[in-house]
Formats: sequence, C-alpha cells, structure tokens
Amino acid sequence: MKHFLLAGIHPELTLAEAEAVLSIKIEQRMGPMLFVDQAGFDGAALQERLAGVVKLGDVLFEADLKDLELKALAEQLADQIDVRPRGERVLFGLTVIGSSNDIAPLKKLPIELKRTLQDRDRSVRWVTGDRGEISPAAVAKLKLTTEGYDFVIGVSGKKAVIGLTTHVQNADAWSLRDYGRPFRDAKTGMLPPKLARLMINLATHDGQEPTSLLDPFCGGGTVLMEAAMLFPDAVLVGSDIDPIQVGGSKQNFVWLNQEGLVALSSEPKLIVAPVQNLGREIQQTFDAIVTEGYLGEPLRGHEPRPFLMKNQENVEGVWEDALPVLANLLNKGGRLVCVWPEFVVGKEVVSTDASAAAKRAGFRVLRSDLKYGRADQRVVRRVIVLEKA
Ligand SMILES: C[S@@+](CC[C@H](N)C(=O)[O-])C[C@H]1O[C@@H](n2cnc3c(N)ncnc32)[C@H](O)[C@@H]1O
Repeated sequence: MKHFLLAGIHPELTLAEAEAVLSIKIEQRMGPMLFVDQAGFDGAALQERLAGVVKLGDVLFEADLKDLELKALAEQLADQIDVRPRGERVLFGLTVIGSSNDIAPLKKLPIELKRTLQDRDRSVRWVTGDRGEISPAAVAKLKLTTEGYDFVIGVSGKKAVIGLTTHVQNADAWSLRDYGRPFRDAKTGMLPPKLARLMINLATHDGQEPTSLLDPFCGGGTVLMEAAMLFPDAVLVGSDIDPIQVGGSKQNFVWLNQEGLVALSSEPKLIVAPVQNLGREIQQTFDAIVTEGYLGEPLRGHEPRPFLMKNQENVEGVWEDALPVLANLLNKGGRLVCVWPEFVVGKEVVSTDASAAAKRAGFRVLRSDLKYGRADQRVVRRVIVLEKA
C-alpha cells in the first residue's frame, strides 16, 4: 500500500529527513505531500520520529479528475467511509493540497460529500478551518483518525491522490520540549527542538542509527535532548565554550528525566571547552556530529553591511578552526550536520559558507541547499550535511 507524508512549513527539509530515515529516494510528491511505497511502513513510529511531518496516512486511491465528476468522487469517498464504520455520526475533515488553479475544481467537494452521505441517511458534520483545511491539532482534538475521517487530497494538473490520515503530529509534546524546559537563552539563540530532531535525522544514513553523537556547540542542549529521546542507548557528548550554557544543558537534562521523556542508559557527558581544544578533551570518535554551531552576534535589524560581514568572518573563522578537529572526531562515512547562518537585514543578505574549509578537512558536502527560517527572520539557518570521506 502507498502512504503519504504531509510536510509542514519546510517541505524540502522534510523530504531530506524522510529519505534519510527511510533510506529511500522519494520519487513521487505533490508539493508538501510526499508519497512512500515501502514494505513494513510503520505510520505510528514514523510520525513520532519525523519532525517535519505534520500528518501521515494511507493512500486510498488515485483519480484522474479529467474523467471524474465531483459527484462521482464524493461517492467514492463515501464508499471509503462506509467500509470503515466509526460511529453513528460521520465527522470528516478534507484538505486539498495543490496550486490554486489545480485545487479550484475541488472547492465544493466537501459539500458534495456531505450531501452524498446525507442521501445515504447518515448524520454528517464537516469540520473545517479558516481556509477549508483542518490543522493537525484539530485532527488530534476531534480524534478524526479514530472516530472520524480526515481526507488529504493532493492534486497536480488533472491527477488526484486521495489519502486518509492515520497519524498526526503531537503538537503539545513539541511545545512542551520547546517552552517547558527550564533553561532557555533567547540571546545566544535556542534551536527549535523540531529543527534539532530534523538535523539528527539527516545524520542517519544507510539504515543505521548512530551509536554515538557529539554536539560541540551544545548551548542549552537541544540536540542532545532530542538525540537522547531517539537513541537512549547511544553515547552522547556535548561541549560548549560557555560554562553557563553547559550548566543549562545539565538543568534541561534533569528536567527531561523528571518529565519521564527519556530512559537513558547513561547520562550525556558535558564538557566546558572551545571546539578548537576538543581533540585533547575527547578520547573517542563518533558516528555523528550534529550541531547548530556559532551563529555570530545577535542582530537587531538595523546593522549595516560591514557588521554583517564581520559576523560572517567570525562564523567562518570558527568553522575554519573547528572542521579539522571535528573531522578527527568523526568515524569514516559519518555525517556532520550543522548550521551555516545567513544574515538578512533589510535588503542585505550575507551568507556564511565554509565548504572550502570542509573539503580541506576531508569532508564531502552532501547538502547545502536546505534552509530553515521564516520570511521575517534576520538569521536564516542553512542546514549543511557533510560526510567524512
Ligand atoms: C547558537 S548557540 C547554540 C544553541 C544550542 N543549539 C541550543 O539549542 O541551546 C551557539 C553556541 O556556541 C557556543 N560557542 C561559540 N563559540 C564557540 C567555540 N569556539 N567553541 C565552543 N563553543 C562555542 C556558544 O557559547 C553558544 O552556546
């Protein structure tokens, strides 16, 4: 059976994340809707694992809209509901994904489905959001995956793929880890837990989970926290030049344990040290290095170009020093996933890039095209995936 994964606001990162974790190339997609046809697909585990996926489910059927009346499509959806009885009253949501031109012919589909079900003597409620779609949080709240139906329909040209959601992202759990942790430092920049998880997933390759992971700019420990949840038996090491940050990581780990979110076989090792000295501080090598890295001086939004260029020079300088050290701490074939920031103030855009230093240090640059950030953000995070050659 074919399945769909619906990406949130960063579809390219989610695609890369899903491909890394599933160890496949995803050939079919309709914008944020990605299709996977893989034996042993475990929807619950995958929804739990992938940070970028907001919903996932089964592909029920595919349709050629050219030959299909809206009424006939509504009949097919009603048939799907009939073969999955879930209570007296039918509660359904319906989201159509595609360009505004492509989705226009399906605008009235929910009304048509409602009418079709009523003609079949069913009591019906169509649940809808502001723009006709229904958020993952609402799907969860209304229990549409078990007590109702949440259809997700991808449209491209005249082709439609009809999916039924089986799992949704647990927004509360993500938000708890982001805002509930005791140590947060907005000044140095807190990595959103979703991006931390996504970056860890990008370090997965060839179906192998890392058994050891290092974050050499660990700050408050976001990467280590997500890694601990995914790989409770892995050896986790974090280091940072700033003792306050390392203390914060410790505090966050105590909290993670108290919340019962991890069951670690051993506590992560936390070290106060500049990345430049790690060769002396750490006597082991790692399967993966995942780190946000230094993002430069915080920006207020009115800095002139020379300030941004100084920031660029400083960040690139840290990577110039760090990359040879980290290359020695990474096992062959292992991935270093990090952030090289892009500074955006007004019309000025200054990007950092350490690919020449990475190559000199013995890395291959696998990805440098993935970005995480909102349109109004001053520091856009470019997510970089390096492989130790
Ligand atoms: C953007 S913050 C990382 C935040 C972290 N990902 C989190 O979620 O809390 C960058 C960190 O790099 C550290 N740092 C800066 N220069 C460093 C260096 N040369 N060696 C090690 N750590 C350094 C800073 O102290 C800071 O905690």
